[in-house]
Amino acid sequence: MNLQKIVVIGAGTMGSGIAQWFTQQSCSVELVDNSGEQLKKALASIHSSWEKLFEKKKITQEELSKMKGLLSVKMLDQVARDADLVIEAIIENLEIKKSLFTNLDQFFNPKTIISSNTSSFPITLMSEAVSDERKKRFVGLHFFNPATIMKLVEVIKAEQTDAGLCKDLYNWFESKEKKPALSKDSPGFIVNRVARNFYGEPLRIAGTDDEKKMKEIDSILREVGGFKMGPFELMDLIGIDINYSVTCSVWDAYNQEPRFAPHALQKQMVDEKRFGRKSKRGFYTYD
Ligand code: NAI
Repeated sequence: MNLQKIVVIGAGTMGSGIAQWFTQQSCSVELVDNSGEQLKKALASIHSSWEKLFEKKKITQEELSKMKGLLSVKMLDQVARDADLVIEAIIENLEIKKSLFTNLDQFFNPKTIISSNTSSFPITLMSEAVSDERKKRFVGLHFFNPATIMKLVEVIKAEQTDAGLCKDLYNWFESKEKKPALSKDSPGFIVNRVARNFYGEPLRIAGTDDEKKMKEIDSILREVGGFKMGPFELMDLIGIDINYSVTCSVWDAYNQEPRFAPHALQKQMVDEKRFGRKSKRGFYTYD
């Protein structure tokens, strides 16, 4: 498998990290969003991250210029139709994603692999939006946040995905020093199923919007539990809106089992537009 031309759709938290990572693997990357402002913001943030690496002498001037040359930001109708791989990383909304996939199926060459970075929607369900031929080249590729650092990538085979394609993707990621895992197309895949309780239980322990308690729970899990981040810090990094959508979709998929139930505070925060780090306010406040 030779992945050279990549299109990433959605230039938010995940899309910009995924685009940055693929560029760092010397792929040519077109990053797409329906908001021009978001595209500018994502490009500036990726450039600034590379410039910091250059200042710390972790990359050379040549590498810096090469990466800047490989990454471009565009609207969908401006991208080349012959991409090897498209990765969808737009908001976690099934109907919006499905309507995008129907467009992508018609837009890209038959050989292009179309993938989704969804955290929770069944890949088989989303593949209903594409033609039977494309279904063989439609797959889940679930990256973790921040995508440039986290090694795990879940490769999810939908009912009609070509098994050989999943294996080739697995091998390709492994050759690029990611840690791929082949996952069943089940709600929340592997990590987001296991992790539901890492968010749900601390919310139930804190009970209300009490920053002092949240700080205490975060520091216990970090310092005593040995986790890299506490649950409230992590939810702020993920995005409260995204995490809430994922919680609801896994809960529904498991027939609303109480152990997966969303907490009222999650909905309240989404209504208040407290989305976490990306909106400067979530459980905590950021500069
Ligand atoms: P985000 O809210 O940070 O970014 C979403 C971006 O998609 C925004 O820039 C928005 O303008 C753009 N967008 C929305 N509709 C669009 C459309 N029709 N066409 C083009 N662009 C569109 O969301 P985030 O956190 O990056 O999540 C994206 C996907 O990745 C979701 O499916 C989420 O479940 C998944 N994911 C999120 C993780 C996280 O930690 N935030 C981790 C792993 C997966």
